[in-house]
Amino acid sequence: MASSTPYTVRWGIMATGWIAEMFSKDLLTNPATRDVHDVRHEIVAVASSSAKERADEFITKIDGPSTAKTYGSYHELVADPDVDIVYIATPHSHHFQNAMLALEAGKNVLCEKALTVTASQARKLVDKAREKNLFFMEAVWTRYFPISIKVRELLASGAIGNVYRAVADLSFNNDAPEGKVTFKDSHRMVNIDLAGGALLDLGIYSLTWVFQALYHVQPEKKKESPKVAAAINKYHTGADETTSIIVQFPKHRSQGVALTSLRIGTDVDGHNSGGPAIRIQGSGGEIQVMGPAYRPLQYKVIKKDGGGQVEVVDCPIPKDPTRDWGHGMFWEADECARCLRDGKKESETLPWSESIVIMEVMEEALRQGGVEYPELIATDVFDAQSSLNTGKR
Ligand SMILES: NC(=O)c1ccc[n+]([C@@H]2O[C@H](COP(=O)([O-])OP(=O)(O)OC[C@H]3O[C@@H](n4cnc5c(N)ncnc54)[C@H](OP(=O)(O)O)[C@@H]3O)[C@@H](O)[C@H]2O)c1
Repeated sequence: MASSTPYTVRWGIMATGWIAEMFSKDLLTNPATRDVHDVRHEIVAVASSSAKERADEFITKIDGPSTAKTYGSYHELVADPDVDIVYIATPHSHHFQNAMLALEAGKNVLCEKALTVTASQARKLVDKAREKNLFFMEAVWTRYFPISIKVRELLASGAIGNVYRAVADLSFNNDAPEGKVTFKDSHRMVNIDLAGGALLDLGIYSLTWVFQALYHVQPEKKKESPKVAAAINKYHTGADETTSIIVQFPKHRSQGVALTSLRIGTDVDGHNSGGPAIRIQGSGGEIQVMGPAYRPLQYKVIKKDGGGQVEVVDCPIPKDPTRDWGHGMFWEADECARCLRDGKKESETLPWSESIVIMEVMEEALRQGGVEYPELIATDVFDAQSSLNTGKR
């Protein structure tokens, strides 16, 4: 019989940057405002690699609980016995070392996307989670949106027949004069030392939709890793600025096109005047998802024999009126809570194997485009005292 007491997860937040703030504020929203009653979240600790004061400021900024412990190092956070799961919100250059630090310390982990810099790093983290019997998940929040669940259900039910193609774009409109983009060269979006570039930060969402449409729905026994062809234009820092990837699943007769760019935008004018960010095309019709690909709020179903009818479905993100907040990251947190409650080590919505295949696709695309990341962040050898773990910049 289901218990009426919600299962509570105690979170430790690693890093105090932008996405850590968004995620933590979502953790603090009332689950009932999204009609969730079986799980709830607490923030019990926050760590900054630079200073304890930054963690203190973070708690103030998110209007977090005064009982939360604050640390000036990631090592202290992963040693805290009150933390059930660590949310890693550092730049992706740091994910392998930071996630391994937490797993080695016996902590469950939710790690921001892109999971790692290389596929080998991702495989090693998965091996460690398996060895230690811990929960581990890549934080691709979009997969847990009701809109994503609905689109996957429609595809699985044959709403548009056999799915043969998916085209997805997430591009950010950061063009600037003289061949530059609007980010400073030191910013993590273009800084090669922080695994900068469009693909690992944005293109992963285009791949997420391509994979949700063409790979995730493949029956387990018929899973097919794709062939990859990529074109990359590099920025002067060495990071990728515009990347286009074709993934081909020959046995399933399907192809996906994943596009990303820092220079041009999916949303042309900032008012969503452009077309859909995602088009999923099947023998019986098409599903369109209106962007941005990471936080879509509407989809359309167009049937081949629909006589021009278009079904338009809005999927708004609920706000907690008390906090006047709701970004959409709470659904992935709920998934973590349910997996922990049920003793699951990985999420069925984004299994370890799928995160690894996507990392393999991105690695291959970057290889074809000649993008190389420094050894410090590409190594798959764990070093607890690595500068990436000790906060030395
Ligand atoms: N899911 C999403 O929608 C979404 C959106 C944006 C970003 N992300 C992902 O989240 C991660 C962080 O992105 P962000 O936008 O939050 O970045 P950010 O604002 O730059 O924050 C990153 C944080 O990481 C910590 N850090 C540790 N070593 C660092 C170093 N050498 N340089 C810079 N920061 C360092 C810092 O916190 P301390 O000083 O406190 O340790 C910093 O505040 C990335 O992997 C990104 O892909 C996800």
